[in-house]
Parts: sequence; structure tokens; C-alpha cells
Amino acid sequence: MKFLEGKLDDIAAGREAPLSRRDLTDILESGPGIDGPLFRAASAVLGRNSGPGVYLRGIIEISNACQKNCFYCRLRRDNPGVARYRMNSREVMEALTHGWNAGLRSFLLQSGERLGGDFIEEVCAILAECRSRWGDSVRMVLSLGELPADVLDRLREAGGSRYLLRIETSDRGLYDRVHPCDGIHDWSARDACLRHLRATGWQTGSGVLIGFPWQTASVLAGDLEYLVDLDIDMCGMGPWIEHKDTPLDKVREQAPPRARRVSLTLRMIALLRILMPDINISATTALQTLDEEGLEKGLEAGGNVFMPNLTPPGYRADYNLYEGKTAVADDLESMITEGRKRCESVRRLLVLGDPGDPLHYGRRLATEGWMSGGAAPGDAIGGRG
Ligand code: 5AD
Ligand code: SF4
Repeated sequence: MKFLEGKLDDIAAGREAPLSRRDLTDILESGPGIDGPLFRAASAVLGRNSGPGVYLRGIIEISNACQKNCFYCRLRRDNPGVARYRMNSREVMEALTHGWNAGLRSFLLQSGERLGGDFIEEVCAILAECRSRWGDSVRMVLSLGELPADVLDRLREAGGSRYLLRIETSDRGLYDRVHPCDGIHDWSARDACLRHLRATGWQTGSGVLIGFPWQTASVLAGDLEYLVDLDIDMCGMGPWIEHKDTPLDKVREQAPPRARRVSLTLRMIALLRILMPDINISATTALQTLDEEGLEKGLEAGGNVFMPNLTPPGYRADYNLYEGKTAVADDLESMITEGRKRCESVRRLLVLGDPGDPLHYGRRLATEGWMSGGAAPGDAIGGRG
């Protein structure tokens, strides 16, 4: 362990010290003594790159209908115990306007995976309305599942800037164990979707579930290498949380205890921060569900985004993906005041009035030559002003 601590101290001091797959695995498996050096290294890397700012992204869970059947998720198609809903455009615009007035400049529209009907048209109309009201000052983030390339392209043209799609796990065998084998849960298709997003100018976000049954430290180390290889701009990863109405709950005793899932999540955030210094990493709701101080700990591990929930109170309980996800609707102003206090308690600064583009995105656009042909619409490039 002395060897790894030495490497982490080198990283903290700004010296080159590449971490191999073996190092990543060993750090994830180490005893608690590794946490001090690991979090110090991650904070130093964050401080030298993205800085102390914590950016807000308001989430609106616009529909909980889903065609998929992931074994870990309560919203899976075959769970009859979920009251399915879809917010209408007026409700979505009201939630967005409320967030905008409070100083939020980045919004995530999230839903289960739903194809067909006029859902996508309605989302496009919402994006167009946001663009006409707020122009380039807002970033609209979408997380609507795996969609065909032409649909993603339409959403981008309508005004989408960022897309989040978790790969869930980089290990295909494990992916197949936690999803049905029915043709619509296909690891390669998901990977292809992410690569399409990445190649077509979206700020691309991905992430994994941490601490679910059968996952090993070496698989998690592979997840980190996958995210680096994909060259993501943003990451959201959180602990798996059991729910009694899901098939994976039957093997819950095969997963690490909850405290270990929290610890693994924090180590994954810290390692990813070291590997990808200039991306955005969020302290996820699931992390905050398993640990009262999840936000503070996630920020100290290297996170720089926090996501207040703007979903209207009447819909919140119906979007519970797992046990204990908070359905209590705090008002936005108190969420911001509370968030600011929590950020300051770990010497970080909550930033309003700025969409917080990941520096990584501006840099990769510049190196990929997008700049010479003009920026993709709706994207500020280069920094945070
Ligand atoms: N615990 C934690 N996260 C979950 N998700 C789905 N089910 C669970 C669960 N039981 C996550 C998945 C998905 C995101 C929307 O929610 O990673 O990508
Ligand atoms: Fe649907 Fe996402 Fe839940 Fe899978 S994790 S069932 S895609 S909402």
C-alpha cells in the first residue's frame, strides 16, 4: 500500500504518476487508510483544473414510462405497481421557468425510455421554446434512454446540448446478468449510442452503477478505463440501491453492504477525477440517499455538480427508481440555500447564473477541429467566463 500512497502523493503534488488497471483495482480494494491520500490527490487535481465551483443542474423527471426491463430498476416495464405519468409541456415549462428565475442555467429532462407517440416531438418543442426564450445562456441536458441516431440528431437540432446515458457496467457479461436477454437490452447498442453522441457534438455524459451483486473491484476498474476511452465530458455514477419490486432484490445479499457501496462510489469519483481532471462529475441523488452527507462527501471526492430536483411534488413519488429516494418536495430556494451551506462546509463555492460547461468539452472540440467549422449551435466553448 505504501507504493500506492506514494503514487497518490505524487499526483497531489502535480507529478506524473499513471495509475494502471492493477493500481485502480488495488485502491478500490484497499482498507480505509487509502482514503486520505486518495481524496487529497483528487481535490488537488480538481483545484488545478476545474476549480472550486459547484454547478447546479435542475432535474425534471418528465415521464416515468419505460420500454425497458432492467433487473435493478423499479420503473421497469413489467412492474405493474408504478402509476405511469407524463408531464405536459406547460408543466415542464413552468418547472424550467421557476429554476431559471432562481439562477439555474442547466436543466436535465429525464424520462424512462419511450419511443413512439408524440413524446419526442413534444420534447423538441420544449427545447425550441427554451432556445427562443433563453438562447445560448441555458444548457438543456437530456436523459431519455437509448434512442435511434436520427432521433438524437433531431433533439440536438432542436436545442439539446448535453446527453446522459449510463453504460451501467463496462462488462458485457455482467450487463447481460442484470438485463433480460430480449434484443432490446444490448450492451453493444448502448455503447454505439454513446459513441454516436460523442461524435455528433453533444456534451456526452455516462456513468455506472456501483456495488450491485456480482460486480468486482476489477470490473469497476474496467469501468473507469471504459469512461476514459469513451472520452466523456460528464459523469454521474452512484451506488446501487435495492428495491423490493425488482428482480435483483432477490440476490441482495450478494451485494456489498450499503456503507461499502458508498465508500466504493466515493473512491470511483476520486479515481475518475484523477483520470479525467476537466470533466464534470455529479454527486448523485443515490449517493445522497445512502448517506446523509453524500453531497459533501461526493464533492470532497472530486465532484463538481449537484442536482436539485424540480419535478412537481405530485409526480415525485412515482419516479422512485429505488428504496428511500426522497419524495419530499423541498422548495427550490431552500434547496439552494441548504446546498450552498453544504458546499461551503467543504470549502466549495455554489455557482448560480452559469451553465458550468465542462472544460473538457471545449478542449476536445478545439482539438477535433470543430472550432474551424464554427461551433455546434448552442454551445459556449472554452470555459466558464
Ligand atoms: N439503484 C441505483 N440507481 C439506479 N438506477 C436504476 N435503478 C437503480 C437502483 N436500483 C439508475 C441507473 C439509470 C439511472 C436513471 O438510474 O443507473 O441509468
Ligand atoms: Fe427504464 Fe432506465 Fe429503469 Fe432501465 S434504468 S428500466 S431504462 S428507467
